[in-house]
Amino acid sequence: MAIRPLVILPDARLRLPSEPVGPVTDEIRTLAQDMLETMYDAPGVGLAAIQIGVTKRVVTIDTSKDENAREPRIFLDPEIVWASEEKRVYDEGCLSIPEFYGEVERPDRVRVRFRDLEGREQEIEADGLLSTCIQHEIDHLNGVLFIDHLSKLKRDRVVKKFAKAAKRGEAA
Ligand code: NI
Repeated sequence: MAIRPLVILPDARLRLPSEPVGPVTDEIRTLAQDMLETMYDAPGVGLAAIQIGVTKRVVTIDTSKDENAREPRIFLDPEIVWASEEKRVYDEGCLSIPEFYGEVERPDRVRVRFRDLEGREQEIEADGLLSTCIQHEIDHLNGVLFIDHLSKLKRDRVVKKFAKAAKRGEAA
């Protein structure tokens, strides 16, 4: 396993749509393990493969926030098959946009279909932080960032700040 460097705003790769995983190879298993390690190291509660520069539809999540009781989850080709009408607002952040947070409204509960590392199809219904997180990560697979859900003013401000920092060769 290895910790891989994170792709940070305004890196254009964050806007790429990711491709279906296809057969679950050793490469995919290693990718998922590296993603978990990178996510725990950051630390963060969720990561999409594109955030380490890989355009595959792989997502890792652990919403336990407890180092001693980890609940790693790996989703291959996740898709939302149902979303509740009720909404939930959460102050979101993103490992690709460090130290920036913004309130995003999304469906409160979602049902997600995905494959596990054995290639078996699974379905879960998610609520709370897991629901928010999985919707945020699936957005990444489609080249969408949580700042796209904010006002244009807020989005432009954060993009400009990170673009300036990148030019100077520093973190924002
Ligand atoms: Ni993110």
